[in-house]
Amino acid sequence: MTTLAGIKTIKDLELENKRVFIRVDFNVPQDKKTRAITDDARIRAALPTIQYAMDKGAKVILASHLGRPKGKVDPIYSLEPCAARLAELLSCEVLLPDDCVGDAPKKLIGEMRGRQIVLLENVRFHPEEEKNDEGFARQLAELCDVYVNDAFGCSHRAHASVHALPKLMREKACGFLLEAEIAKLGKIITDPDKPYLAILGGAKVSDKIAVVENLLNLVDMLVIGGAMANTFLKAQGNDTKASLVEDDKLALARTIMEKARDMKVDLIVPVDVVVAPSTDATEGKVVDVGAIPDGNLALDIGPKTIAMIEGACKKAKSIFWNGPMGMFENKAFSAGTFAVAKAMASVRAFTVVGGGDSASAVRKAGPEIQMAFTHISTGGGASLELVEGRKLPGIEILRSGNA
Ligand code: 3PG
Repeated sequence: MTTLAGIKTIKDLELENKRVFIRVDFNVPQDKKTRAITDDARIRAALPTIQYAMDKGAKVILASHLGRPKGKVDPIYSLEPCAARLAELLSCEVLLPDDCVGDAPKKLIGEMRGRQIVLLENVRFHPEEEKNDEGFARQLAELCDVYVNDAFGCSHRAHASVHALPKLMREKACGFLLEAEIAKLGKIITDPDKPYLAILGGAKVSDKIAVVENLLNLVDMLVIGGAMANTFLKAQGNDTKASLVEDDKLALARTIMEKARDMKVDLIVPVDVVVAPSTDATEGKVVDVGAIPDGNLALDIGPKTIAMIEGACKKAKSIFWNGPMGMFENKAFSAGTFAVAKAMASVRAFTVVGGGDSASAVRKAGPEIQMAFTHISTGGGASLELVEGRKLPGIEILRSGNA
């Protein structure tokens, strides 16, 4: 069930003078060398909840993970850059104790004054976090009176700060971001306005099997783009030359095509592609899918395919998009991905982008395009699991009767 039924929101909680633990997802992309944050969308997305709690007179304690430090303290994964960015965005002091449990955070929280926030250091510095360890959750529980989950991006993880901790807490709720994610993604998987178009891209069919299978039961039109489309093109009998293909998924691609036919889903796979001899080429050539030159690989969708997607967008009342249409990190192969963002932004439909690369492409396409979307999810894996029809532990534990 992907609805808000049985889940309190932060507005239902008494916050004044309470120590309010807000699990946020500050797992932001960073420059590999300087560690500078390259996209602060996840931090900005948590601001309404943080600001609301502060305005209600709460002592705000934030917790997050960053990267995958594998249960060890590693300064590379310190939340320090996030603390600095948050302080700038909220114009307040953000205190960062060097551990998320124990005496250091207890002392800081005890001494907090107005317009101060405590951001606990990376919860994944402790191996117990990913083990959903109850003892570790108890240590976190000692720091707070009330629990709020606003970390949609990691609500698919049964980790201690997302699952074991709220299990222990009597007062718990979702924040504004998690509420919006559940409402918007919930609508496109339980009650979409029809016709419903899904656009899937990305590198591998194997990553999206469960998503495709669930979506086939819901959608009227399904676009397959990105490198995963190559496997479909080969399964149709095209010579994909040097393109990335999952040869062990050709049979699966055929089954998906047959199923789409049986279910009368209009399946749109590329009819033309942008090719080049290597992924770091500075320009590509548009060819029909049956005419990829020797030694070349398909790296983006072509203009005829873009026109088909634009046509499908015009017909749709709901559109869900996940995964880029090509290697959009390279400008020469980014046109297809940006064209999808533009096509979705220019129609009057319920438009949802499921996190990760496609969400970052929408943001890169500029504020006007970004504003035109109904919802841009902050969750990559989390939004895909929801669209697969799975229940997310971090959401389910908030429902009354589940603790
Ligand atoms: C994400 O970036 O998708 C979330 O923050 C979850 O991170 P994880 O995949 O490392 O659990």
